Amino acid sequence: MTEDFKVTPWEVTGDIDYGLLQERFGTTPIDGALLERLSKYGDVHPMLRRGIFYSHRDLNQLLDGYEKGKEFFLYTGRGPSGNTHLGHMMPWIFNKWIQDTFGVPMLFQMTDDEKFLFKDLTLDDTRRMAYENALDFVALGFDPDKTKIILDTENIKSLYPIALKVSKKVTFSTAKAVFGFDNSTNIGSVFFTSIQAAPAFLPTEEAGTQVPCLIPCGIDQDPHFRVARDVAPGLGYPKPAMMYCKMFPGLGGGDKMSSSDENATIYTTDGPKAVKKKVGRAFTGGCVSVEEQREKGGNPEICAVFKYYFYMFEKDDSKINELADRCRSGCILCGECKAELTTRINLFLEDHQAKREEARKIVGDMAYGGFKWKKDGE
Ligand code: TRP
Repeated sequence: MTEDFKVTPWEVTGDIDYGLLQERFGTTPIDGALLERLSKYGDVHPMLRRGIFYSHRDLNQLLDGYEKGKEFFLYTGRGPSGNTHLGHMMPWIFNKWIQDTFGVPMLFQMTDDEKFLFKDLTLDDTRRMAYENALDFVALGFDPDKTKIILDTENIKSLYPIALKVSKKVTFSTAKAVFGFDNSTNIGSVFFTSIQAAPAFLPTEEAGTQVPCLIPCGIDQDPHFRVARDVAPGLGYPKPAMMYCKMFPGLGGGDKMSSSDENATIYTTDGPKAVKKKVGRAFTGGCVSVEEQREKGGNPEICAVFKYYFYMFEKDDSKINELADRCRSGCILCGECKAELTTRINLFLEDHQAKREEARKIVGDMAYGGFKWKKDGE
């Protein structure tokens, strides 16, 4: 029997069965018909074609509105608790593709309050991390004229009236059932979901008319948005549409890249040597000896290295299939495959790190309401 898995906004454990998770959460598969519909707007992103962004809520309704001339906005976010790693970047890269494809505005929420409440960090820590993480977000090239970054403790004045309205509609018993809180949970955590809901409704409050919202993010965030969607109609807000992705795998073979395993995690600030070392130690689907692998072949299904190509570093479908075939037939060995991945990750990071430096110049302009960032060493 496979071990049961757990997926909440704060904890992901076990072998995730994404089909079952979708059933448990009650989200809808992104199927062939929906991919077909999306292909009308441009080349469908590999993360969609490959079932990485695999599940949604109300995407068809959102597109119906869009086709009738109703512009939506994008919303996603980051809890600043440490350095950005590739797993954080994956959904942001997808958000950037949506922004380019539909030409829509974007709100990015940085929940320094959340990470203060849920982790052993000071507010000073989480605010400084927010600045560092924001550089990674901005480096991806979001349209500076259409993108705003919210930092909760700075923008609370705009969020609070909305959060209050949301919180009045959510009972403690709902929060316990959805998030697994108990009597030892601090009361800030119990309230927090209403803060994460707020940006989804902020443009509606600002415009005084319903502005549709699309939230592409990891499926672990669904509990928050289930609650937000439930209360929206009663508050005169549109229910946000959702697009959910699977978790970005760790190099150790786990289902989710996590900062709790530093050696299996690639940070955006890692240098070439660190990447080489981490990829070198990655869990693979290879055999114990070269002879055996030449004879029996490897198993890309379970291989962390293969997953990296599949999720991010090989966008060409025919090439990814060819790689899987060459692995299964024993044609390519793990060493070679790892060396090539290391090269690709390092090229990506070199380019990203240069853009990250450039981002320092514009991240200030992207602060919602013009707040001032707290930087390291200040
Ligand atoms: N709670 C998220 C995290 O821990 C951060 C977040 C805030 C977020 N708003 C969001 C994520 C909207 C996705 C969509 O990382």
